[in-house]
Amino acid sequence: MIGSASWVLWLERVSRLHARSEGPLTGRLTLPGDKSISHRALLFNALGVGEARITGLLAARDVEATAGCLRALGATIERDGDAWKVIGCGGTFARPSTVLDCGNSGTSMRLLTGILASQPFSCVLDGDAHLRKRPMARVADPLTAMGATLKTTDGTAPLHIQGGNLEAGRFDSAIASAQVKSALVLATLGARLGTLCFTEPHRSRDHTERMLGAMGIDIAWKDDVLVVKSGQVPRCRDVQVPADISSAAFFLVAATIVPGSEVVLEGVGVNPTRTGILEALGAMGADIQRENEREVSGEPLADLRVRSASLKGIRIDGALVPRLIDEIPVLAVAAACAAGETVIADARELRVKESDRIASTVAGLTGMGVDVREEPDGMRIHGGSLAGATVDSRGDHRIAMAFAVAGRAATGETVVEDAENVATSFPEFEATLEEALHG
Ligand code: S3P
Repeated sequence: MIGSASWVLWLERVSRLHARSEGPLTGRLTLPGDKSISHRALLFNALGVGEARITGLLAARDVEATAGCLRALGATIERDGDAWKVIGCGGTFARPSTVLDCGNSGTSMRLLTGILASQPFSCVLDGDAHLRKRPMARVADPLTAMGATLKTTDGTAPLHIQGGNLEAGRFDSAIASAQVKSALVLATLGARLGTLCFTEPHRSRDHTERMLGAMGIDIAWKDDVLVVKSGQVPRCRDVQVPADISSAAFFLVAATIVPGSEVVLEGVGVNPTRTGILEALGAMGADIQRENEREVSGEPLADLRVRSASLKGIRIDGALVPRLIDEIPVLAVAAACAAGETVIADARELRVKESDRIASTVAGLTGMGVDVREEPDGMRIHGGSLAGATVDSRGDHRIAMAFAVAGRAATGETVVEDAENVATSFPEFEATLEEALHG
């Protein structure tokens, strides 16, 4: 039983991050598994025929939400030594007896919606207060056009789904979203008729195409059109999940902006649809080298050696944006430490992430004394110095971690509030930072 005094201390610890300059980061760091690949390894194997072992699965709340929903749908997901064993349901899940709770996770909700649109039962998907504000019409509308019976709550969760017969066809997405793409691909697998011909304005992350292709699904990019035949069931396949480049990003930036640092980040996924952060930091003058490049479970990975360096401002826009979308808050911190101006444009999607990340990043940087201007689709940052401040992460894990990194390069102390959701993607964030600072 936890006494009330230690309970208060515990709450203080989980909901606030404290950061100040404590010298260089050093050592070899192991980072958590890739979140996007972890969700997909569970979802596709649970849907498939056979069974599979998943190693390196991200142990964090978002992935636990996916696992919880899949168990409620009748899938078996159990610990098997240092791996997870998944027994596939052979294409058809069981009707859940409860609401499917996706927590804070947009990926869980949107990909599950695609799967459930063709399952032979009705169900309800819901999430926390943040997820309930995020747009779901982007998957609900094209699924409805395929014949799905789906009711949103004013375009948001809760979602009421009555599974039924779907017919796949052409869909030209107005946004580069891997979640929209994956929802339509998954709905197509369960559809009775048709072929999905999908386009997007820029290529979004392609983990779905890679993993389903390796599971025997007929799925291929033909020029700029993704073509998937309806009525297919994946064959379960073991997956070794690489370290998450989106989690690595906090250490790429921290080691770059804290003088005297040198760290090696081990086994990081370097899928070209995710490496925009490496290109942007490289163009800014960062010293990041890839070592020991290899391929595991159809995904490229490398160890990343990062040494501190002086940065200069750059422009980030267009096709680069979807390739670094989740890294923009921490990239903005790097820009605040760079000489000259950094412009981030074409990034309106940031407004509908776990928080409005344009507003929350601009507010945090402004609080730390940075000259930054908010734009409808991004921001302009004049590099200079960072002053310690109290920053509100607005319940957004990536904002919290970005400003904990900023605090390491700032004068005085930085306190990041409402940081409890760091546990959705990177529960060991503070411990890993401590390890890099103090060995
Ligand atoms: C994800 C896709 C991206 C990304 C999110 C994870 C995925 O979202 O921001 O963190 O796993 O498919 P969008 O598809 O909305 O761009």
